[in-house]
Amino acid sequence: MDEITTIAALRSRLDRDRAAGRTVGFVPTMGYLHDGHASLVRAARADTDVVVASVFVNPLQFGPTEDLAAYPRDLDHDRRVAAAAGVDVLFVPPTTEMYPEPVVTTVTVAGTVTESLEGATRPTHFAGVATVVAKLFNIVGPCRAYFGEKDAQQLAVVRRMVRDLSIPVEVVGCPIVREPDGLALSSRNAYLTAAERAVAPVVHRALLAGADRVAAGADHADEVRAAMAAVLAAEPLLEVDYAEVVDPDTFVALGDLADAPDEVRLLVAARLGRPRLIDNLGARRPRRDRS
Ligand code: PAJ
Repeated sequence: MDEITTIAALRSRLDRDRAAGRTVGFVPTMGYLHDGHASLVRAARADTDVVVASVFVNPLQFGPTEDLAAYPRDLDHDRRVAAAAGVDVLFVPPTTEMYPEPVVTTVTVAGTVTESLEGATRPTHFAGVATVVAKLFNIVGPCRAYFGEKDAQQLAVVRRMVRDLSIPVEVVGCPIVREPDGLALSSRNAYLTAAERAVAPVVHRALLAGADRVAAGADHADEVRAAMAAVLAAEPLLEVDYAEVVDPDTFVALGDLADAPDEVRLLVAARLGRPRLIDNLGARRPRRDRS
């Protein structure tokens, strides 16, 4: 595995690969890699000839009171996980390489997809994500880029940005990797105490309870919200931000499910001690006989 720290060196390496007819797969990350990240690398490995992963903790996407300074970092561990999963090129730019001067040009994805849920709780977050992802796409160049459904709203934001700006990148969404007890893998799980870790799978159980209501033919999204809220309420350590049911493309909260798309998305965010856990699940409505 090669390690590259400058934009110029990565560009010339990948230009040579593409000139030789090789396709490029790209997995952007903030490091502290786990099997969720590795699953994206494996998907890229299966589809493309040269797999690039980036490790960059992007200051622009952290709010002033968030955990930028404390965000977990372990580059030696990341090198091992990345190499084992099949990364060819690890791009690890210093902050001064990515942002040598204060950033005054940013990318903002407006509209419903950034207004609700994570966008409402973290008002500058998605502009920070869109700006760094646009920058990384400009550095890596034409490629297939792999993102986890773990961050479903982020995936929708990136897809929309790529369409609106005609960026020559094909965005591929990949399934959520979970612990055996259902907890979605996340770098921030490292913050959980043992007692909190024991409670954490309740988030996934709430999503499953909501998906059951959808599959059973619930008429209104409020029934689904209530089913999720009931499971979450049983855990006093949990501070719930939202338990929502949305249209998977627009992220608009749903009401009457008779008008909803066939597949809806359920999302939960809740603080558990120090970390804020986010998770989500697609749920399919039953087919109705429309005769
Ligand atoms: P990070 O949180 O490191 O996540 C990098 C990628 O890994 C994202 O696409 C995320 O959805 C995916 N991922 C995380 N946990 C996962 C899991 N349990 N299963 C499957 N995929 C998972 O997301 C970011 O970094 C940043 O916002 C970034 C896009 C790199 C921009 O800075």
